[in-house]
Amino acid sequence: MRDKIESLLKEINNLTANSKEELETLRIHYLSKKGEISSLMNDFRDIAADQKREVGQKLNELKEQAQDKFNALKVKLEGQDVSVETIDLTRTADTYQVGTRHPISIVRKKICDIFARLGFSIAEGPEIEDDWHVFSSLNFAPDHPARDMQDTFFISHGADILLRTHTSSVQTRVMEQTQPPIRIICPGRVYRNEAISYRAHCFFHQVEALYIDRNVSFADLKQTLIFFAKEMFGSDTKIRLRPSFFPFTEPSAEMDISCNLCGGKGCPFCKHTGWVEILGCGMVDPNVLKNCGIDSQIYSGYALGMGIERITNLKYQVKDLRLFSENDLRFLRQFESAT
Ligand code: DAH
Repeated sequence: MRDKIESLLKEINNLTANSKEELETLRIHYLSKKGEISSLMNDFRDIAADQKREVGQKLNELKEQAQDKFNALKVKLEGQDVSVETIDLTRTADTYQVGTRHPISIVRKKICDIFARLGFSIAEGPEIEDDWHVFSSLNFAPDHPARDMQDTFFISHGADILLRTHTSSVQTRVMEQTQPPIRIICPGRVYRNEAISYRAHCFFHQVEALYIDRNVSFADLKQTLIFFAKEMFGSDTKIRLRPSFFPFTEPSAEMDISCNLCGGKGCPFCKHTGWVEILGCGMVDPNVLKNCGIDSQIYSGYALGMGIERITNLKYQVKDLRLFSENDLRFLRQFESAT
């Protein structure tokens, strides 16, 4: 047995392997359950008791050397040390799958942050509203088309309970409860009875701003608009105001910004005009102040309102409005790095 061990030791020391297959053949031959070493182990039982110690030691030595040799050959073949558990401490850790902010939330936050820097604070109101806060207090004539069932979702006709069609309703709620100075920004979801398509949805989001104080003028409104446009879309952004009409403001205007996709040169997005409309605004109609218990002889103010989806489209070029509410992760994950 001793001779057998010695000759195996020599054999093993001289082993080489040129491929994984060769190495596996060697492993089976020497180290597997039916291999040479196992069979020696079996024979070991019959060894005379007084020799057991010495032969046992030799046998263990053989076993260790065979295993070491096998590992060394494997490392050589694979370029990897298999006898040690391999942990590459220099590798960057697996990243956690973090959630993403919704693009509408990102833009809403941006808008609110800009106005917060001008001293506006956030005000919120209910989505289920009544006719007074959404229409009547805001000077909508009784036969105004917005009151039509085709434009507005009514919950209860008799009691005039409806889903708000704009966040201007929050103006009324705040003015009814607070005396000026009032400087608020009202973000929220609004509903309109529209057929859903890539460019219209039955719910979307708006931000409304309201500033009421002594001596507030259209010049204050314009300065605020210029500041907002440059902060939101970059310092090269230009604005233009076009006369418009809203029941709750007089005078009223719509604001365009220079198209930030083509830099004002003209492209399909701005319909080759170089301008895109982003919001409505104006001086709060004295009737609205009166309706809300504010003395229009002492106070004046401006209001403005914009759709968050529209601003988001301009910032991120989302071509289909429906993407905002479908929760498709392939879409949402594109906003991972946005804040
Ligand atoms: N409420 C208007 C809308 O939903 C937007 C708007 C226009 C708000 C002019 C205003 C404003 O405060 O002054 O279309």
